[in-house]
Amino acid sequence: MLTRSPDEAAAHIRAGRLAAFPTETVYGLGADAFQPDAVEAVFAAKGRPADNPLIVHLADAGRVDQVVATLPASADRLLDAFAPGPITCIVPRHPDLPSVVTAGLDTVGVRIPGHATAQAFLRACATPVAAPSANRSGRPSPTTWQAVQEDLDGRIACILQGDPTEAGVESTVVDCTADPPAVLRPGAVPVEALRAVLGTVEFPEEEASDDAPRSPGTKHRHYAPAARVHVVQESSEAESGEGTAYIGLDPPPAGDFAVVRRPADVEAYAHEVFAFFRECDRAGCADIYAQRVPPEGLGRALNDRLERAAAR
Ligand code: TXA
Ligand code: MG
Repeated sequence: MLTRSPDEAAAHIRAGRLAAFPTETVYGLGADAFQPDAVEAVFAAKGRPADNPLIVHLADAGRVDQVVATLPASADRLLDAFAPGPITCIVPRHPDLPSVVTAGLDTVGVRIPGHATAQAFLRACATPVAAPSANRSGRPSPTTWQAVQEDLDGRIACILQGDPTEAGVESTVVDCTADPPAVLRPGAVPVEALRAVLGTVEFPEEEASDDAPRSPGTKHRHYAPAARVHVVQESSEAESGEGTAYIGLDPPPAGDFAVVRRPADVEAYAHEVFAFFRECDRAGCADIYAQRVPPEGLGRALNDRLERAAAR
C-alpha cells in the first residue's frame, strides 16, 4: 500500500509489518527492531543473506540506550557532529536487542536520519527501526519510491512516499569499536569530514581480498543492474553500440549509446547513478560504461558503488 502519511506507515511497523520509508540517502525497509519475526521478514522480503546485519534507525539520540551497551567516545563525537545525518556508527550492542538485527554480531549500527519525513515516521514508530536499503538484495539501492515498488511490490505492507532522495549514496559506516575508528563503507559523509572531527580515521582504500571483510555486507554483490557495468577512467574507453549506455562527467565518445547521462558534478552523479542503472535495465541495455570520478569527498563513495556494481 502506498501512503504519504508517516503515521499510517508507522502503524504498520508497530503492528509487526514492514514499511519502506525515505531518508536523505536511499529508501529504507523498516521493521520494529524489537519484533524478531518482523526483522526476519525484512531478510525474506529482500532475499538478504542472514549474515548481513541491519542498521538500527532512531528519531533522535534519546533512544540510543535501548540498543547500545556503551557508546564509545568516537561515536559520541560523530553523532554530535553529523547526526541527524548520513552517518552510521558501529558500537557495542545492547544485550536485549534481538540478535537477528545484528546477524548475531555483538555490535550494532546506529543511524539518526536527517530527513523530515524519516524523522516524522521514526517518531511515530516510537521504537527503534531496523532497516536496510529497500531494494532486492544485490540490486541498485532505491532513490525513489517507484524503485522500491519495482523491487518489493507485494512483499511488504507499505511504502511511505517521499521525494527522490537527496544524497543518492548510503550513509558512511564507521566502526567506532576500533581504535582508531575505521570506515567500513564510504558514504555521504566524506572521510575528510570524519578526520576533521576525529583526527585519525582508518580508511582501507582496498580490502585485501583474502582478509575477512569487517563489514559483512561488503562481501556480497551489490548495487548491480542486470546490465554489465564497466568502470572507465577516460570516457574514450567507453564502447558505443546497440544496447550500450554511458554515464560520466566527461562527454561520451562519438557513436551511438542507447542511454547517456552527463551529471553536472560529483554530487549530481551520486544523486542519479542508481536511478540511471534502473533506467538502463528498463531500456534493456547489456553494457553500461561508468566513468570514475576523482577519489576525494563524495567521489570515494561514488567510485566504491561503481566498482561494486561492476564486480561479478
Ligand atoms: O544510508 C543508509 O545507510 C541506508 C538507509 C536506509 O539508512 N541503509 C543501508 O542499509 O544502506 P544496508 O543494510 O543496505 O547497508 C548497511 C551496511 C551493510 O554493509 C552492513 O553489513 C553494514 O552496514 N553493517 C550493519 N551493521 C553492522 C555491524 N554491526 N557491523 C558491521 N557492519 C554493519
Ligand atoms: Mg543495501
